[in-house]
Amino acid sequence: MIDRIKQLLQEVEELKAANAEELEALRIKYLSKKGEIAQLMNDFRDVAGEQKREVGQYLNHLKEKAQQRINDIKEGFAHVSTGHDDTDLTRTAYPVALGTRHPLSIVKREICDIFGRLGFSIAEGPEIEDDWHVFSSLNFAEDHPARDMQDTFFIRHSPDILLRTHTSSVQTRVMEKKQPPIRIICPGRVYRHEAISYRAHCFFHQVEALYVDREVSFADLKQALLFFAKEMFGQETKIRLRPSYFPFTEPSAEMDISCNLCGGKGCPFCKHTGWVEILGCGMVDPHVLDNCGIDSAVYSGYALGMGIERITNLKYQVKDLRMFSENDVRFLKQFEAAH
Ligand code: DAH
Repeated sequence: MIDRIKQLLQEVEELKAANAEELEALRIKYLSKKGEIAQLMNDFRDVAGEQKREVGQYLNHLKEKAQQRINDIKEGFAHVSTGHDDTDLTRTAYPVALGTRHPLSIVKREICDIFGRLGFSIAEGPEIEDDWHVFSSLNFAEDHPARDMQDTFFIRHSPDILLRTHTSSVQTRVMEKKQPPIRIICPGRVYRHEAISYRAHCFFHQVEALYVDREVSFADLKQALLFFAKEMFGQETKIRLRPSYFPFTEPSAEMDISCNLCGGKGCPFCKHTGWVEILGCGMVDPHVLDNCGIDSAVYSGYALGMGIERITNLKYQVKDLRMFSENDVRFLKQFEAAH
């Protein structure tokens, strides 16, 4: 078999093609599913155990060489102006400029990476949701203002189908399917019926985190928050928790970080308080666990949610939210070095 491989290696090195059709014929001959190399791969199964290593190495080498030779020939074609009428004059001219990652994607990745290091894995859910997953399962009373038509885009009434207003809906989706331990981070787009201005948009992005297990405590939440804040905004960052209210957590809190612009001394950005708010969090309300089929007598959990635009604004001082969805290349290009 090695002789046959050597012979093919020789052939491959001398391959020539005058045009794209000839090249395609060569590709089929050597690299297709029924090609020479695939056949050898088949025969490889019968090679005696002690020879497998050596033959395997030869075979891989052959495959790489063949692929490389065919790519080289192809590239040669790309650089030669053929002058034939099959040249596509409408094609984007070389060199094609590479795009850059969107600032929201950069920050989303960074948030997910940080929580990934704490053992969280990514979970996603649909943007078109029902009342149960967005509101009812999360303890929103029938007359809670967030259900008001002004906040929510409804697609259909009774049964209600709507655009999710927060990524907390993914909590329910995951808890309904899986028993603890659950440790998930859920990035995604959310929608709210808001007039568009520099500080509000009808869609934006959130990341939700949820940890449910035996004996999860508020201390665990605080530690995760501190870790996140330091990783995201620098080791000198301080955090502060203020009591708050969310229907799906009890107790609930909002977290501020020391202003990363003035270092907490006070500036116009933090309205001279030295602190800026970045997220909501709390211990998952036992009702929510029970609603999702998780025994609240055995398990507890914490949850937190933050706006990706908000974090991005803090990191890059983007003053107008609309910049994120206008696709102005002059704006986007500034993030070239950030990823
Ligand atoms: N869903 C909340 C919102 O959209 C954010 C939030 C607050 C999520 C507290 C949480 C939480 O998981 O515990 O404003």
